[in-house]
Amino acid sequence: MMTRSTWTSSRAIYHLLKMFAPLTLGTLLALAACMAAEVATSPHKVVLTSRAVRKGHIPALRRRALSSANVPLDDFFLGTDLQWFGNISVGTPPQTVSVVFDTGSQSLEFVSTQCGAPCAKQVAFNISKSSTFVDGGEETTLAFATGVGVDPVINNDYVLTVRSAQDVVSVGGLSAGLMDLFTIVNQTSAFDIDPFSGIQGMSSMAQGFFASLIEKGLPSLFGMFLTPKAVGHAELTIGGIDHRKFHSDLVYSSLPEGSDGFWQLESPSITVNGKTTTLLNSRRTIIFDSGTSNILFSTNTTEAMYAIISPDIKPFAAEPGAYGIPCSKISGLPATIDITFTSQQPGHPFVLTIPSSELNVGPFKSDPSICQTLINAFDGLELLGASLLKHYYSVWDIGKQRMGFAPNGF
Ligand SMILES: *[C@@H]1O[C@H](CO)[C@@H](O)[C@H](O)[C@H]1NC(C)=O
Ligand SMILES: *[C@@H]1O[C@H](CO)[C@@H](O)[C@H](O)[C@H]1NC(C)=O
Ligand SMILES: *[C@@H]1O[C@H](CO)[C@@H](O)[C@H](O)[C@H]1NC(C)=O
Ligand SMILES: *[C@@H]1O[C@H](CO)[C@@H](O)[C@H](O)[C@H]1NC(C)=O
Repeated sequence: MMTRSTWTSSRAIYHLLKMFAPLTLGTLLALAACMAAEVATSPHKVVLTSRAVRKGHIPALRRRALSSANVPLDDFFLGTDLQWFGNISVGTPPQTVSVVFDTGSQSLEFVSTQCGAPCAKQVAFNISKSSTFVDGGEETTLAFATGVGVDPVINNDYVLTVRSAQDVVSVGGLSAGLMDLFTIVNQTSAFDIDPFSGIQGMSSMAQGFFASLIEKGLPSLFGMFLTPKAVGHAELTIGGIDHRKFHSDLVYSSLPEGSDGFWQLESPSITVNGKTTTLLNSRRTIIFDSGTSNILFSTNTTEAMYAIISPDIKPFAAEPGAYGIPCSKISGLPATIDITFTSQQPGHPFVLTIPSSELNVGPFKSDPSICQTLINAFDGLELLGASLLKHYYSVWDIGKQRMGFAPNGF
């Protein structure tokens, strides 16, 4: 059975596999680096840059900059908010494909009719119905790890086979043209519960549809409004910021040099319920991942945080990396996690907070008297997922290699 924690951890490892896999990175890298160095977020400057990038394309000079587009998102909720996903269009004529917009990965992949029975629970993109579909023929198998901890478990219950292809893609009504993508042609049953058909990577180097739209004049940033299920109206804004979704100034922080596609920021300290330790008060680099629901820290940091919250929080043996506490003891337990970052201007510290309400992720399936807690241990990876992101409007600025935050305005 897939549980919340295996979901979270398998996704996270999957992201990393994809990050390190030489997928679509090569050709777009040069473009992305150029964009990162030169593109400002104003449409005017973007047009100038696209002129510089595409020397000799006279029509581009006259083309108006593209305006931002809002993409509504649905919440995949199983007792807790797990993933947010929305529609893109693929093929000619266009077919709707639902994808998670995942800042922790870089490529586009979705279930197609090349996958038969193993993908029967999901809506499949019909490759025979698209006149623009090109089969690339190269297959790659990705093995997912389902456990986390000191010895991450590679569990063959989570295997995905993807096949290279090209087709036209549009997002939020903006057509990005023909691009490289992957179709999912086989998968194990662990994926059956996904209410979406694929993943659209949104890494900090523009790739795929985003690179193409930026080249056409779309500002090189996106905004995310992830909300709890009860609030709804979650939204991705590509090429802009939806100022209706928050009511204070955005605070920006720069990605460290060499972030290489990751959305990550350096943090000098963490406090829990206002307390810290030498370990928590040390510098670390933390990834922001819209495709992961929980938060992940090294075992030592995880246990330092839990030690402040409650001695009753213990590792949950059946799922390495997951922790839990008797459900009878979790209600009202203070667990405010403050993570400090450094603002771009003028270098002041600012804090992002995960409120106590996020501590309880829900009962474990294998022992419903124990409630899973928010932090998963994962040595070598520190990552904040949706349990933080759904409390802030977040701006993911590729051109300026920075992230912006303001408390969500709901
Ligand atoms: C995606 O498209 C489907 C089918 O057209 C529609 O039912 C669904 O509401 C759309 N989802 C979102 C989040 O817009
Ligand atoms: C895909 O489209 C083709 C051509 O329209 C059709 O014959 C076939 O039944 C479709 N396949 C599925 C699985 O819907
Ligand atoms: C799909 O994957 C399963 C293992 O999960 C394997 O048994 C099966 O042979 C694969 N099917 C194809 C068509 O490759
Ligand atoms: C905490 O764990 C991480 C990952 O295993 C390790 O790199 C780091 O040195 C540890 N820190 C301390 C203070 O032990």
